[in-house]
Amino acid sequence: MQYSAYYVEEKDGAFSASISELELEKPEDGFVQIKVSHSSLNYKDALSASGNKGVTRNYPFVPGIDAAGIISDGNSSHFAEGDEVIVTGYDMGMNTPGGFGEYVNVPAVWVVKKPTNLNSLEAMSIGTAGLTAAASVLKIYESSKASDLPVLVSGATGGVGSIGVILMSKLGKEVSALTGKPSSVDFLKSIGADNIIMRDEYLETPSKAMERPLFSSAIDTVGGNVLSKILPQISPHGVVACCGNVAGIEVNTTVFPFILRGITLSGIDSAESSIEFKSSIWNKFADEWKLDLSSMIKVVTKENLQQEIDLILEGGQQGRVVLKHGE
Ligand SMILES: NC(=O)c1ccc[n+]([C@@H]2O[C@H](COP(=O)([O-])OP(=O)(O)OC[C@H]3O[C@@H](n4cnc5c(N)ncnc54)[C@H](OP(=O)(O)O)[C@@H]3O)[C@@H](O)[C@H]2O)c1
Repeated sequence: MQYSAYYVEEKDGAFSASISELELEKPEDGFVQIKVSHSSLNYKDALSASGNKGVTRNYPFVPGIDAAGIISDGNSSHFAEGDEVIVTGYDMGMNTPGGFGEYVNVPAVWVVKKPTNLNSLEAMSIGTAGLTAAASVLKIYESSKASDLPVLVSGATGGVGSIGVILMSKLGKEVSALTGKPSSVDFLKSIGADNIIMRDEYLETPSKAMERPLFSSAIDTVGGNVLSKILPQISPHGVVACCGNVAGIEVNTTVFPFILRGITLSGIDSAESSIEFKSSIWNKFADEWKLDLSSMIKVVTKENLQQEIDLILEGGQQGRVVLKHGE
């Protein structure tokens, strides 16, 4: 049997994608085969789709770190055929073919049963971006000291950032959204941002070793000079959840925010977090954190994916892109 996939190939060092028919293999012992109904586009998928060998070592390859669908062949005692499931992260979409194909074969231990109160489209509107935002929010709630200052979210219009804004606002926090997109002010206000800070203006003045505290905590999805600027502006015993690097991988800081204000720089790695943690987050999204993301998603087919990949690489996406496979 064959299945259709967004398939990235390497030729003479150049990478290109096509919609290809691939051979479907039987799942090995301990693996399940999932008929994928929906996937989603994350920044990491765009890196894989464009030949970033730090994400995907070998091509040809099918990206897609997120998948929702039904078990079509379960070579595992954990799942039965027809079970509705979700997979996010681990090696899927990195070096194990992912959700941009209509089927995936993955270890059963990577899979969670989809909560009934969440459909596949809703689950993939959340996807890895939402899990990452949720992990960041929990880290801040578990570890930071209460403060009346706003929480800062950087890369606020992006996938992780926008869901971070929504969750923090839903939890009653004042949210400051840092963005590079002047045209997205209305969007950010509509999802719960109280204050909008333009990135150019924010970065105009060089960062100092210590500054007046402006934020209680922060979800930083971009890293680089933005993260360097945030650290000295966090109030005592605040937490900065560090989850992304689109602005750069280097951070310049002194020890002062840590030793004079006791702030915590907390790393987030949602892809490799335990399956129990992922499952608990999905249950939250199906219940007390149930979100209506319908106004901030674009639903596309494999044929329209390339333009969305190009846009996310330029930093131009707003909200989330969901990939819907054919019937
Ligand atoms: N640690 C983890 O577990 C984990 C999981 C998922 C994602 N991530 C990482 O989180 C980051 C965001 O992922 P995503 O899927 O949300 O991507 P995304 O949708 O493209 O969001 C990134 C946002 O960052 C801002 N941005 C883009 N280029 C920038 C630049 N040069 N300088 C400063 N800001 C810039 C843009 O928002 P504005 O225009 O609003 O500023 C953009 O929309 C990526 O680095 C990704 O690899 C990490």
